[in-house]
Amino acid sequence: MNAPLDLTSIRAQFPILAQKIRGKDLVFLDSAASAQKPRAVIDAMVGAMESQYANIHRGLHWMSERTTDAYEATRDSAARLLNAADRHEIVFVRNSTEGINLVAHSYGRGVLRPGQAVVISEMEHHSNIVPWQMLRDDHGTELRVAPITDTGELDMAAYEALFADGKVGLVAITHMSNVLGSYTPAERIIRIAHDHGAKVLLDGSQAVVHRRIDVQALDADFYVFTGHKLYGPTGIGVLYGKRELLEAMPPWMGGGDMISSVTYERSTWAQVPHKFEAGTPAILEGIGLNAAIKWVEAIGYDAIAAHEAALTDHGLARLSAIEGLTVIGRAQDRGGVISFTLDRAHAHDIATLLDRAGIAVRAGHHCAEPLMRRLGLESTARASFGIYTTTAEIDFLAETLTKVREFFR
Ligand code: ALA
Repeated sequence: MNAPLDLTSIRAQFPILAQKIRGKDLVFLDSAASAQKPRAVIDAMVGAMESQYANIHRGLHWMSERTTDAYEATRDSAARLLNAADRHEIVFVRNSTEGINLVAHSYGRGVLRPGQAVVISEMEHHSNIVPWQMLRDDHGTELRVAPITDTGELDMAAYEALFADGKVGLVAITHMSNVLGSYTPAERIIRIAHDHGAKVLLDGSQAVVHRRIDVQALDADFYVFTGHKLYGPTGIGVLYGKRELLEAMPPWMGGGDMISSVTYERSTWAQVPHKFEAGTPAILEGIGLNAAIKWVEAIGYDAIAAHEAALTDHGLARLSAIEGLTVIGRAQDRGGVISFTLDRAHAHDIATLLDRAGIAVRAGHHCAEPLMRRLGLESTARASFGIYTTTAEIDFLAETLTKVREFFR
């Protein structure tokens, strides 16, 4: 068990939080879109540029070797973070979207057969919908959508029923909704899929920020997350895949670094994970991600989860008490993302008025248009919390929303 968070010390590590925005303290409640960066991440990237930067996996000189070591150390850290059995199961990608597209292209077209089905859920964001539609249209797989309940939880009976005809080859489901905050019951999802011979990809873009992930305990086949929501840089993410699955999958993009040898007649592929990593990668971003992972590990997931639970309870209590405000999604197991609507106010107007008070939230469909349709909404406003969020900031949000409510009365 970690000690409770020392929020003063944590906030001091985020240079961006120290500044005034248009004369006001920044109240950043948009971490689900992208989190702010601690000094450790900034320093790791700047330090690499100032002291050792060179291309990696190619050079025989000192700078290249040092940078290769620094970049490859991130693979060890990512494997440790997810409790992967083997560092070769960590594939670097640009973001979760690219990780899902990689699986859709390579596993989808190379291993799944036309006529097999892919199951997603009603609470996916576009990056876990569109690649499977493209696979369906190109390859003849079927796309099945597991419904959610009115509380914003996966309907497990309906989910299980989707497997009855034995056609499901792959399930691709979020581990935590970016709109509703709901965690999905990953172990049950995977157990049911495996009982029916299907593999499972979990989209951990939101979940990995708040919870310890153990891909071996979950028995996940694929797991994706993105660096920039985990206090790391943009442009770097991770696809975990069980080694035997990655070995069986064809490469996706061709180019340097992913080959063993090339002639005009044929090429042979590098071992996993390099088979999936064509071209010069996001070197500095990879080094920054390592700093982010170590920074999160040093704080510890017990403390992070406890802080998030306290913030979420406080946020739900304060926001629910505002007349005319409706919290969207009432899952039992939920995290620090609260979507809401306010009577007679458009979400964009709410966000604009909050912004004038220095509060940053996201408003719109949150890259999840089908979920909005399921909820009978066009848009919501969304407050999302990070390690640095305080209950005082949530109080300020609630007080400002009460004023916004008066404005639209
Ligand atoms: N998926 C990200 C969000 O929820 C971009 O804001």
